Amino acid sequence: MAPSPRGSSFSRVLLLVLALSVALLAPVPAAATSVFRVRRKFPRHGGAEEAEEHLAGLRRHDGRRHGRLLGAVDLPLGGVGLPTETGLYYTRIELGAPAKGYYVQVDTGSDILWVNCIRCDGCPTRSGLGIELTQYDPAGNGSTVGCDQEFCVANNGGVPPTCSSDSPCQFRITYGDGSSTTGFYVTDFLQYDQVSGNGQTTPSNASITFGCGAQLGGDLGSSSQALDGILGFGQSNSSVLSQLADAGKVPKIFAHCLDTVHGGGIFAIGNVVQPKVKTTPLVPNMPHYNVNLKGIAVGGATLQLPTNTFNSGANQGTIIDSGTTLAYLPESVYKTLMAAVFDKYQDISIHNINDFLCFQFSGSVDDGFPMITFSFEGDLTLDVYPHDYLFQNGNDIYCIGFLNGGLQTKDGKDMVLLGDLVLSNKLVVYDLENQVIGWTAYNCSSSIKIEDDKTGSTYTVDAHNISSGWKFQWHNSWILLFVITIWRYIIF
Ligand SMILES: *[C@@H]1O[C@H](CO)[C@@H](O)[C@H](O)[C@H]1NC(C)=O
Ligand SMILES: *[C@@H]1O[C@H](CO)[C@@H](O)[C@H](O)[C@H]1NC(C)=O
Ligand SMILES: *[C@@H]1O[C@H](CO)[C@@H](O)[C@H](O)[C@H]1NC(C)=O
Ligand SMILES: *[C@@H]1O[C@H](CO)[C@@H](O)[C@H](O)[C@H]1NC(C)=O
Ligand SMILES: *[C@@H]1O[C@H](CO)[C@@H](O)[C@H](O)[C@H]1NC(C)=O
Repeated sequence: MAPSPRGSSFSRVLLLVLALSVALLAPVPAAATSVFRVRRKFPRHGGAEEAEEHLAGLRRHDGRRHGRLLGAVDLPLGGVGLPTETGLYYTRIELGAPAKGYYVQVDTGSDILWVNCIRCDGCPTRSGLGIELTQYDPAGNGSTVGCDQEFCVANNGGVPPTCSSDSPCQFRITYGDGSSTTGFYVTDFLQYDQVSGNGQTTPSNASITFGCGAQLGGDLGSSSQALDGILGFGQSNSSVLSQLADAGKVPKIFAHCLDTVHGGGIFAIGNVVQPKVKTTPLVPNMPHYNVNLKGIAVGGATLQLPTNTFNSGANQGTIIDSGTTLAYLPESVYKTLMAAVFDKYQDISIHNINDFLCFQFSGSVDDGFPMITFSFEGDLTLDVYPHDYLFQNGNDIYCIGFLNGGLQTKDGKDMVLLGDLVLSNKLVVYDLENQVIGWTAYNCSSSIKIEDDKTGSTYTVDAHNISSGWKFQWHNSWILLFVITIWRYIIF
């Protein structure tokens, strides 16, 4: 049985912030369109990867020659992206002067940073994650962004017709599960940890523009997994990454290593030099991180799927999203994949437990089940082990982490969305300067090496596991979270 896309009555649906629209409140469609239109200006010549690498090298070289001193940022991570755990990863940032700390979910499926604002309507005051929630007060050093200011105009494709000189620049974000946040933009100091040595950081700051959430809708307001906000790592100019890059502080490159084994992991902005990762090109001009999936193999045998299953026309392709807990496949792919995975166990009995398909199995799933390999353009593969796609839910009970369908493009085509389930325990590098994304299997409790342009040195960035002393306990071991992402919620 397919999990019902809207069916998880047991829990707050995990946020998964795939689908979103960021727009001035009026007029929504036109404004939002231009938000997405501005994404990628980088010219791409079909297949000319060598030329691009060369160009990238030149750009880096030029950057140095012109005195762009790009550093690196360490974002301490907490959380565990398993349905039976927190189901998400978060970091702690500081805003304002004097600075206050905020816990925000890291999400590569959305663009802006927003935090709950003081006197926010519908905001949680308590979190089941055991963290202390803080509401941002723009009356400190923050300044409200006006609707006629450059940030607002640039991110909305012009001055909104309803803009009068003293009205703020408003935003509304709608997430895949139907939850939403509405508010206005402010500019204030962001304090972050600049990498300054091996495993060392120095506090640093930048003035950035982010959203002050005035009203939360849907599950974002419920307290079981409440955080202070979301840190979107999308590509648009409005993201913190773009703002730090535009300010000449970092290159437009970041990486994450999400650790389901110990929790937390590594999240860093900067030029990763070790480990080296093989990459695949990003599909140009997409609102999310889309890549071209070519095929899927189970235990080394390629699945026979109709041609064009993973066609990468407009609004298709495969989305890589750290803000989603699990992985979604179109129904036809899901069925073929599951048939191959359970080939040896044709008579296994599968039960529907809280919208997951679960079965009893004793012994090691890694010995009993095959590895699944996704192949992408450019010869990049993604290996997903049985212990990744079959999560344990009590003694000898395992549930399937792949979900059947539920994700559609505007024109009704099913798409693939790969979340933490398959991205965990790998170093994933998003190199936006070269418009590629890559990964390699990695120990996310260890460290990576990042080059610091400022000094020309290479520094290690260590794993973190910020836990704030939480005691995460389910009232009932069957309570599961799962992410709902419905593509048609997007307002373009
Ligand atoms: C921020 O505001 C506080 C009090 O309003 C003031 O004391 C402080 O100097 C301000 N900081 C900056 C960096 O402007
Ligand atoms: C986004 O940023 C890039 C680089 O700074 C700039 O060239 C481009 O014009 C910006 N787009 C908008 C709409 O501001
Ligand atoms: C930002 O960093 C600079 C340089 O380290 C420092 O002098 C300044 O006080 C910092 N500002 C805030 C608001 O933290
Ligand atoms: C990370 O934090 C969790 C929750 O506090 C804890 O269970 C786990 O042991 C920690 N992992 C490491 C490597 O410290
Ligand atoms: C991963 O790295 C940590 C920290 O270096 C180390 O303690 C641990 O043994 C490593 N795990 C594996 C499986 O190698």
